[in-house]
Amino acid sequence: MSVNLGDMAFSEYRRVLKRAEDARLKGAFSDAAAAYRQCAELYRQYAASSTDPSIRKQRLKQSEIFLQKSRQYGSSSVSHQSVHHQEARKEAAGPADRDDYEADVLNLRQHTNIKWKDIGGLEETKNSIKAAYGMALAQKPKGVQINSWRNILLFGPPGTGKTLLAAATAGSLEADFFNVKVSNLVSKYFGETSKLISALYSVAHQRSPSVIYMDEFESLTPPRDSGDSGAERRIVSTFLSELDGLATKEDESFILTMGATNFPWLLDSAMLSRFQRRIYVPLPDEAARKSILEIHLTRRGHKTTQDINEWVKATRGFAGREIEQLCQTAIASMTQRANPGLLDLVDQGRKALSKYEIKIEPLTENDMKSALDQIHPITTADMLRQYDDWNHQSEHQM
Ligand SMILES: Nc1ncnc2c1ncn2[C@@H]1O[C@H](COP(=O)(O)OP(=O)(O)OP(=O)(O)O)[C@@H](O)[C@H]1O
Ligand SMILES: [Mg+2]
Repeated sequence: MSVNLGDMAFSEYRRVLKRAEDARLKGAFSDAAAAYRQCAELYRQYAASSTDPSIRKQRLKQSEIFLQKSRQYGSSSVSHQSVHHQEARKEAAGPADRDDYEADVLNLRQHTNIKWKDIGGLEETKNSIKAAYGMALAQKPKGVQINSWRNILLFGPPGTGKTLLAAATAGSLEADFFNVKVSNLVSKYFGETSKLISALYSVAHQRSPSVIYMDEFESLTPPRDSGDSGAERRIVSTFLSELDGLATKEDESFILTMGATNFPWLLDSAMLSRFQRRIYVPLPDEAARKSILEIHLTRRGHKTTQDINEWVKATRGFAGREIEQLCQTAIASMTQRANPGLLDLVDQGRKALSKYEIKIEPLTENDMKSALDQIHPITTADMLRQYDDWNHQSEHQM
């Protein structure tokens, strides 16, 4: 993960915020005021690190809130005592605990360089997602309310670009990308999972705009006959309330939750009703396969002896991931053929290798055929029918 000044300011801010809150809870108000002032400055630096004016504006607002807190605790007034007692009660659950979770949450962040142009096909899907955050982040006319989607469910066969879509969304928004595999979360934190989910949303809120990607989303719905433990119920209800949005009207922070699943029919209606947009990410059609092949072959400097449309025809029924694997396998067979002396060079050592430039040839029909022998699509016609049925049914329910 790359470290930039904004990230440094943010982690320093978190450290100082803890100091401010500890001081406040102990009643050391002038220390708290000084630390809040420092928080404001660090948040201002964090704001300056974004190139997006709307993100900057929103973070500067947060910085202003810390300044106000600093002023509030700096002026010695009796009313602090009651503020202190109220808040101490609220936080009796243990701020240290919560901080531990927030540290774990920061580890879920992933740096992404994926751009929209790295995703072949799925034009309509890309446009729906862009429209969702465009509406959420653009200025609304005074006095006008426009609701925007903040929860999107992506469903479809494996390897069709769901994770890519989420990464590109985060990349193009300059947003933090929290990539969460729900089954890992539940098995790692079990009874504590709902605390982690709250911490996740709290950090995502502070670092807005954020994209929370919840993969294997169906794992959040326990099987109906599992006896439904209290812990599981708590996880689901915490998550449902986070999906309903902490967003108040004045809150301009933006968290886009993207759930992804290969098994949408396992989700229960309470969960589904939170996703205003459910987007089917299907197997690529001809045009999409052609652009995926361009991404994984042409743009990587490879040519084919046959018309590329032969490859398009041969990959009917393949998901994007399988097309990528097919390209890699074909490229490997070509490079082996074109570089027969490479193994000898390996035996001679690194110096000999570093002087050698790999030879490249156009990919032949044989390269394609030998790759097709090894890579097979896993999505069956039955599965496709199931996705289509669910898609129709779900459209009628919305
Ligand atoms: N539309 C696409 N354009 C370009 N490459 C793609 C596309 N779809 C898939 N790929 C390739 O396949 C890989 C896997 O895609 P991705 O992880 O987004 O699939 P997924 O839908 O999230 O799968 P799963 O349901 O198994 O999690 C990508 O890293 C990319 O290399
Ligand atoms: Mg995925």
